[in-house]
Amino acid sequence: MERTTIIAANWKMNLSPSGGENLISSLKESFSIQPGLEVAVMPQAPMISMVSQYLGMSGISLGAQNCSNAISGALTGETSPSLLKNLGCDYCLVGHSERREIFSESNQLVAEKANLLLSLGIIPIVCVGETLQERENNTHFDKISDQVNIIYSMTSNELWKNLVFAYEPIWAIGTGKTATPDQANEIHQFIRKSIKNNACENLAGSVSILYGGSVKPDNAAQLLQQTDIDGFLVGGASLKPEDFIKIINAYQKG
Ligand code: PGA
Repeated sequence: MERTTIIAANWKMNLSPSGGENLISSLKESFSIQPGLEVAVMPQAPMISMVSQYLGMSGISLGAQNCSNAISGALTGETSPSLLKNLGCDYCLVGHSERREIFSESNQLVAEKANLLLSLGIIPIVCVGETLQERENNTHFDKISDQVNIIYSMTSNELWKNLVFAYEPIWAIGTGKTATPDQANEIHQFIRKSIKNNACENLAGSVSILYGGSVKPDNAAQLLQQTDIDGFLVGGASLKPEDFIKIINAYQKG
């Protein structure tokens, strides 16, 4: 089954407005729309509308890094997913490990956010992944299946086709340590099997599952060649236009 390849730039809490503008103008110079490939940038929330203007008609999509689990209300400092929709976001990350670990986001909260985003027509990119200790204790499969299962138990089945997952082993994020292509593909296949158990084989075959964790120009092509890796969530390397462009080009070559 043909799946969309998605290469998303998670800028995290980096880049000024002028830094973002420069980065996007470099990207636009070398970016061309290709069938089967979606490229997205995810700035800090206050920069979303500015970045949307910079992107213009480039064909590069827009995403957010996080949102509230409510549409509106007395929730100081939160960002409404419906505002993200109004500002033109196509994607929103949910459950990034930095949100889960630093801001104590539970599986339940992550699933509530995913559910709301789906209902508004924004594609949630649900991040899952294990710590080094969990991998060493061999509890990583249990952790990941819990993270996946709750998404299916709390969202409506007509919208399941719009879900995207990102496998990000926590030990590989920002560390320079990448999962080997085999290690990553093994977990991607496991996630697909969990989707099949929750939904059906057809759906499991059509969901894009991205890899994240120290993706770089020199490991991108090999990772993308794996049967079950359908793109990337890129942190550090997405801040350097020449590196991010090389990562995008790994798709062209792959
Ligand atoms: P990294 O971050 O590419 O810098 O490892 C990936 C992420 O956290 O999404």
